[in-house]
Amino acid sequence: MHAITVSDLHKRYGDVRAVDGLSFTVGFGEVFAVVGPNGAGKTTTVEILEGHRHRTSGTVDVLGTDPATGGRSYRERIGIVLQDAGLEEDFTVAELVRLYRGMYPRRLDVDEVVALVGLADKRDARVKTLSGGQRRRLDLALGLVGDPDVLFLDEPTTGFDPSARRRAWDLVGSLRGLGKTVLLTTHYMDEAEHLADRVAVVVAGRLVACGTPEEIRATGDAVATVAFRLPAGVVPADLPELDGALLPRGAGWRLRTTTPTLALNRLTGWAVGRGEELPQIEVTRPSLEDVYLELVAAAGTDARPDASTPRHR
Ligand SMILES: Nc1ncnc2c1ncn2[C@@H]1O[C@H](COP(=O)(O)OP(=O)(O)O)[C@@H](O)[C@H]1O
Ligand SMILES: [Mg+2]
Repeated sequence: MHAITVSDLHKRYGDVRAVDGLSFTVGFGEVFAVVGPNGAGKTTTVEILEGHRHRTSGTVDVLGTDPATGGRSYRERIGIVLQDAGLEEDFTVAELVRLYRGMYPRRLDVDEVVALVGLADKRDARVKTLSGGQRRRLDLALGLVGDPDVLFLDEPTTGFDPSARRRAWDLVGSLRGLGKTVLLTTHYMDEAEHLADRVAVVVAGRLVACGTPEEIRATGDAVATVAFRLPAGVVPADLPELDGALLPRGAGWRLRTTTPTLALNRLTGWAVGRGEELPQIEVTRPSLEDVYLELVAAAGTDARPDASTPRHR
């Protein structure tokens, strides 16, 4: 039994296949991240799960309910943090949280929720006076106050500076502590890696990888980089034969190779034989971000966040 099951989900807008055969499951109490570039279909998927958008085909189950027909009793059991929510500007933080609280049968305490999202000192401030980061935290408070079993967070940190992002990460960590099932979207792989138990990489409405961050890292190609500088007076032509591509890197060199052990052995054997040190020698493996960018490039789109892409509601 899963908290969320998505099976062969499709959503078309005219000719656009926004979601093109997505399948995944999310366990109870799991934090699950859907990662993908702009236009991947993340918001469309989340809104279908929330019951706010109709699907073209496929099956969806959240908490044993089909969101399309779950109605009000379904929406009372989920929490929603929209990518671009319009907030009532003239209310204070506490007033707005109380207003939303009144819509749910199960409720958390207003001050408890306000404190949980780190807005206690803004409790009586009007919404229109809040910064962007404070608004996102208020969004989260509104999603939480109905004490939902499942929480949907659509790009909870987009537009945040690094310290606001860290605070938001802490917040999602505290949701995990409350035992909530969380499905979040992001176009930052480092965020997904930090927050999520499992990650789905979605490009152009299709799943290109799904698993723990470690499992996704393992799907990348096995190329490692051996970087080093050459001792004074030594040129690359003096090096032994190395398997891989030798490229300049700053004042030194980097070798991209699938056999780093052999390359290191040749290089260090050669240097030791000459009685020399290879300055700044290091071996690195692709980061999860590198693997993600490879996956996205292989799927034929650009992973870089594009601020000019319109947001949809
Ligand atoms: N209401 C809509 N009408 C037409 N096309 C839409 C609509 N909403 C989204 N799309 C298109 O569907 C695709 C996926 O959009 P979206 O789900 O917002 O992606 P993401 O949230 O990953 O950026 C995009 O090509 C987008 O332009
Ligand atoms: Mg979106």
